[in-house]
Amino acid sequence: MKTLCIRGVTGSSAIHVGERLRSLEKYLPRGKLVIITDTNVQKLYGKEFPPCNLISIGTGEAVKNLDTVQAIYTQLIEFEADRSTYVLGIGGGIVCDVSGFAASTYLRGLKYGFVPTTLLSQVDASVGGKNGVNFAGYKNMVGVFNQPEFVICDLRLLRTLPERELACGFAEIIKHAAIADAQLFSYLEEIYPKAFALDEEVIEKLVYESVVIKSTIVNRDEREKGERRKLNFGHTIGHAIEKITTLSHGEAVGVGMGVAAALSVRMGLLTEQEARRLEALLGRFRLPTHIDFDREKAVDALRRDKKRAGDEIHFVLLEGIGRAVVQVVPIQELESVVYASL
Ligand SMILES: NC(=O)c1ccc[n+]([C@@H]2O[C@H](COP(=O)([O-])OP(=O)(O)OC[C@H]3O[C@@H](n4cnc5c(N)ncnc54)[C@H](O)[C@@H]3O)[C@@H](O)[C@H]2O)c1
Repeated sequence: MKTLCIRGVTGSSAIHVGERLRSLEKYLPRGKLVIITDTNVQKLYGKEFPPCNLISIGTGEAVKNLDTVQAIYTQLIEFEADRSTYVLGIGGGIVCDVSGFAASTYLRGLKYGFVPTTLLSQVDASVGGKNGVNFAGYKNMVGVFNQPEFVICDLRLLRTLPERELACGFAEIIKHAAIADAQLFSYLEEIYPKAFALDEEVIEKLVYESVVIKSTIVNRDEREKGERRKLNFGHTIGHAIEKITTLSHGEAVGVGMGVAAALSVRMGLLTEQEARRLEALLGRFRLPTHIDFDREKAVDALRRDKKRAGDEIHFVLLEGIGRAVVQVVPIQELESVVYASL
């Protein structure tokens, strides 16, 4: 097991990669515990949860909203949760986002931790203290910055993940490599069959290296005023695609990274060969790179991006594999890339 730390304004977070769900109790304070999970994870791993009050939410992006958060508040009141109650989110990125937001706002904030159970949530959603829900058709529109006290990444839990969900996690690992670590990118190009087979050594290295990249960036810029924006590589277009298709978050980010790479080439920052390397790697991890969909709707969704400022948007480009740069790009330029490259 390896441990990494994030020291944020709102508290510190210890991320334990390779720890086990069954060792959870040593991280929990005494007192009342409320676990928030989803129905799938409860079915698979509920028997391994410590004694607690349990809240189970539904699954899918459609439950990541204020109605679900309200239902959680109601159950917390029924359980007589007070300021000393500890909240633990056990599940994928949706459980992490919803439970982290509910814990951070109920009674102005309860202490909380995460056991992320998808690859995507282990390498991304559980790390960094951004917790939020969708609102009025906008992704992650309402939320907080607040660090979980601990994150336990039990790699054994990944064995029950469907292949499509695994691929989504690899999309975020590829993103981390593409923006910050050329060596990790080359390693992914070599070991992808072992990664997909969840070879213990390989998956532990990939999760750990990924969390190192994310936590290093978060430690430098917790509130996303500058460098943290790089973590949005592939996400501006990805969120627009996620909104108008049936692709999952990770798949949409994969397509978004392809478009961002195409724009990087067009702006003379990235070579075509490097863009092709990225596309090939996404393909090896069985992620869609080209999809057909309504471009008008994609452009409309882009125009409504919450990160937009006037006619411009902070957009993450690559100036090489392993090197990201944030530039203010006119929305019009983005629109023409969406029309040209999808
Ligand atoms: N807050 C952040 O910093 C951040 C970062 C990245 C992504 N996100 C958010 O995370 C969400 C996506 O997360 P996700 O991909 O984990 O999706 P998810 O939470 O929907 O999980 C995917 C599916 O896998 C199931 N599942 C979970 N663990 C399992 C296991 N061990 N075995 C079998 N099935 C399991 C879930 O029930 C669900 O059906 C999006 O809403 C995205 O916006 C947040």
